[in-house]
This record gives sequence, C-alpha cells and structure tokens, in this order.
Amino acid sequence: MKTLRTAVIGLGWAGTVHARTLASMPGIDLVALADLDPAKRAAFPKVPTFVDLEALLRLNLDYCVIATPSATHEQYALALAAAGVPALIEKPIAPSGEAAWRISEAFAHAGTFAAVGHTERHQAPVTELARCLHSGDFGELWQFTTRRQGPYSGRILDVGVALDLLVHDVDLVSWLAGQPVESVTASTRVLAGPYEDTATATTVLRGGVLAHHHADWITPFKHRTIQVHTTAGVLTADTVAGTLTHHPNTAAPTAVAGFPGVLAGDARVIELPEQEAPFTVEHQLMRDALLGQGTRGLVSLAEGAATVAATEALLTAAATGRSTTVPARQPALA
Ligand SMILES: NC(=O)c1ccc[n+]([C@@H]2O[C@H](COP(=O)([O-])OP(=O)(O)OC[C@H]3O[C@@H](n4cnc5c(N)ncnc54)[C@H](O)[C@@H]3O)[C@@H](O)[C@H]2O)c1
Repeated sequence: MKTLRTAVIGLGWAGTVHARTLASMPGIDLVALADLDPAKRAAFPKVPTFVDLEALLRLNLDYCVIATPSATHEQYALALAAAGVPALIEKPIAPSGEAAWRISEAFAHAGTFAAVGHTERHQAPVTELARCLHSGDFGELWQFTTRRQGPYSGRILDVGVALDLLVHDVDLVSWLAGQPVESVTASTRVLAGPYEDTATATTVLRGGVLAHHHADWITPFKHRTIQVHTTAGVLTADTVAGTLTHHPNTAAPTAVAGFPGVLAGDARVIELPEQEAPFTVEHQLMRDALLGQGTRGLVSLAEGAATVAATEALLTAAATGRSTTVPARQPALA
C-alpha cells in the first residue's frame, strides 16, 4: 500500500495532536511542519519545519492539515487548492459563511479533495448515537438538546464561543438528523470578550425538528452532552463520561390521541464498540479517501460551510433579537 506524505500547518493545541497522530500511523509519513512561531517549530526536532508556504507546496504532499487560527484558514486553503494538494481543514472551516463557501468552491474548481476536522463526530458515544439514530430503531426524531461548557482555553482569540464550540453541535445535529439548519433564534453575552463567552440558541432543522444549544467557556468544569428525544425515548451521549444512555419511553397510553407517551422505563447504558481516538479515526478516514476507498465518514467542505453559515446566522439572530434564516446555499445532506 502507498505511504502518504503529509504535513501540518499550525502547531498549537490541535496541530500538535494532528502531528503526533500522523507520526504514529502506519501508511503515513509526516514529512513537514509549519508555524510562524519558532518555539512551536522547535518542539518537533525530528521533522523538517517550514515558514515558507511555497517550499512546503513543493514537497509532493498527499495531504496537508490546516490547524492555524480559523481566521487564517482561507489563505492556506486557497493556496493548497491552487497547488492541487488535498487538505484536512480544522473546524470552523472559516469564520464567515462567505469565506467558507469560497474555500469549498476553490477545492471543487481544482478537483482536489478536502474535508473539515469536525472530530466530535468520531467520539465513541457520538458515533454510536449516529448508528442508533440512522438505524431507524428509535423511531421519529423529536428534538435535540446540546450542552458544551468548560473553562476558557486562553488560545482562541479570533472568534467567540459560538464559532469555536457551539459550531461542533450545529454540525453534529445536522449530521445526526440528516437535515440542514433553516433558521435560528439566539442570545449571547460578552463577559470577558472580545467576542461572546456564552451562547444559547434554538435552531429549526428542515422538516421542523428543534435543536436547543448552549455553549460557554465560563464554566470551571467540562460538560459535553448531546441529548436526543425520539419516539422510543431519550438518548444521551456524554463525551466527558464516554457514555451513551437510553431512557426508553414506556408504551403507556396517554390521554392525547396519537401521542405515544413519555413515561420512563429503566435506563440502559449502551455498550460502545472499541474505537480509536477521534483524531486517529479522522486520519484513517483521510488515508482511506486518498487511497480511493471512498470519503464516507469525513465531513465535506459543503457541510462545513453550511455549519459556519448556520452559526453566523446564530450570531446575527443574537445581535438583532430576531429569528434569522440561514442563507439558502446548502449541501445535499444524505
Ligand atoms: N477539532 C477539534 O477538536 C479542535 C480542537 C481545538 C482546536 N481546533 C481548531 O484548530 C485551530 C487551531 O486551534 P488551536 O486551539 O490549536 O490554537 P492554538 O493557538 O493552540 O494554535 C494555533 C497555532 O497556529 C500558529 N499560527 C498562527 N497564525 C499562523 C499563520 N498565519 N501561519 C502559520 N501558523 C500560524 C500559532 O503560532 C499556533 O502555534 C482552530 O481553527 C480551532 O478551532 C479544533
């Protein structure tokens, strides 16, 4: 099997995880790293490091990870697309819907493959939650409730908590439901700034399913849950605890005709299959895609752009106090 030549641009928190993951994977060579900060480059003495993008582009790369701050993704993405180098671009793909769609179109125009690093899809409880929902065994989807809280990392300086954290849940819900976000109402608050530190939103997916989201980085502990109400009860994926729980609805009849009832049965913890760490899964999928084995499991640029557009609409909704429609340019979700 061909060994893929890879590189990582941006060697902060995310770039370091990508670099370590790539360096440890069979079938992949990590041939180059890039960062503006000499101290970050010096942390990887065994891999050639670069500042000059042109030099990096001459290395005959099979793919390149972009893990710089979100506001700088576009400049690297457009250069990689123009050079025909496939890319894995960290989330959010860009800080605005327009920039995100420009990136998507640049790769489409170049005929070069690229994907977005929405790694939360590869957390074991979330992967299993998707399998449960997509199997159809849990009946009709009623609503989503997501909560993503923790302390501020001190690293993210170019976007607020909506584009940094809540964007994960906008992506997860669209993927789990198989529907894009159509409109959003939201409130945000700037406490330490310069952008919002806490955000609460309700989105309406195509077909009418509601998703209630809360994200903040003002909480001293980490909380990450995705809760899905279905006709068969509530599924809760907790990616801090690493669990997926099902609270079934009993078949108790209700006074309301056609409503199946929501009396609680016994909760059950769903066993999770063994799974590699999210970044490893992501690079296994990239390797498979670039070896011609299909792009299943990866997040397309169009999906990433639609997620940014929905999150941008959330910020508009919060700023205006009005329900905001997500612009129509949507990907064809399965
Ligand atoms: N998928 C995930 O779970 C996940 C987790 C964390 C961060 N991220 C994403 O990864 C990206 C980086 O976040 P981070 O937390 O690693 O930030 P970070 O601040 O830790 O790292 C950013 C790095 O990029 C370098 N850099 C800045 N501007 C540059 C430029 N123009 N060219 C080259 N290098 C440059 C900095 O020196 C720094 O080393 C963001 O888009 C973030 O949203 C994703």
